[in-house]
Amino acid sequence: MKALVLSGGAGTRLRPITHTSAKQLVPVANKPVLFYGLESIAAAGIRDVGIIVAPDTADEIRAAVGDGTRFGLVVTYIPQHAPLGLAHAVLIAREFLGDDDFVMYLGDNFIVGGITDLVEEFRATRPAASILLTKVPDPRAFGVAELDVDGRVARLEEKPGNPRSDLALVGVYLFTPAVHEAVRSIEPSARGELEITDALQWLIDDRRPVTSTVVSGYWKDTGNVADMLEVNRSVLELLTPRNEGTVDAATEIIGRVRIGGGATVRGSRIVGPVIIGAGTVVENSYIGPSTSIAEDCRVTDSEIEYSIVLSGSSLHGVGRVEASLIGRNVQITPAPPIPAAHRLVLGDHSKVQISA
Ligand code: TTP
Repeated sequence: MKALVLSGGAGTRLRPITHTSAKQLVPVANKPVLFYGLESIAAAGIRDVGIIVAPDTADEIRAAVGDGTRFGLVVTYIPQHAPLGLAHAVLIAREFLGDDDFVMYLGDNFIVGGITDLVEEFRATRPAASILLTKVPDPRAFGVAELDVDGRVARLEEKPGNPRSDLALVGVYLFTPAVHEAVRSIEPSARGELEITDALQWLIDDRRPVTSTVVSGYWKDTGNVADMLEVNRSVLELLTPRNEGTVDAATEIIGRVRIGGGATVRGSRIVGPVIIGAGTVVENSYIGPSTSIAEDCRVTDSEIEYSIVLSGSSLHGVGRVEASLIGRNVQITPAPPIPAAHRLVLGDHSKVQISA
């Protein structure tokens, strides 16, 4: 069995972060989201992994993952010239996949509890395909499955205007080589993508067995900021506290807090779960629950909670920052008192909410 990890895509929902960086490398508890997926694949006993990469972010993903040795994997990179759909990714991976069964894993998805049981079940039963489903409040943004009275997958639709069920497809799919004929046979959808839902529907129409497992509390797509912050929160809940940095006597640390090597915390209040990366300096500040601050940041005279800060960024003298995703090498400072105005230098597609 092999794995195909999709780490290309456009990432429009995470702009401007994705203008300069791959969304799959945004850190959750200071570790790229993609790494959690690779670890789950290795834990399921799979060794050969193909990673689909986009032209803009291929180098960065290669630099981060390397040849896969550190995960116990053998990685093959498969360039996709444009984000032409999940089924397109399967199409271009044909040579790598050969005639093996494989698990397809979306590189920006987070599967709590890993995939070992799913892979074992698939190995034992070998339907043409097996999908994971979860109930969502608004299925219109997802691939949606309709089950028949016996619980088999009867129909699939991609981002339907009028969903026929509330069962959304989770970003892990298991396939036998039967899927190759399906992805060759389908046409691009109205949005110009080869849809994996259409490939699955092709298998169903061809009377091949497509099974599903409905899971709850199992999965998060980190494609948008709100979900990214939520995944970060849930991963930090399991953090093992550790202090490898320097914390002065005037600092109060409460709950699960991990402080990286060479980090310095002075005169601050840190209420976990919080992770502070190596080399970061925190001074006269409050860091509140569910916050990840990456390496080489500076937080001085500021307050931040329920947020992710990427490496090299600084917050100086700013009041309360909440529910924020802050990119690399960002500087946040107060404006001079006169004139009382916001002064912003924002990249394309930035989103800023200012408390008036
Ligand atoms: P999506 O999040 O569905 O698509 P996207 O990355 O284009 O994001 P957005 O909707 O914000 O523009 O993709 C799921 C995963 O699959 C993600 O890790 C990117 C990857 N992917 C590919 O590798 N190739 C593709 O053609 C597509 C559509 C996605």
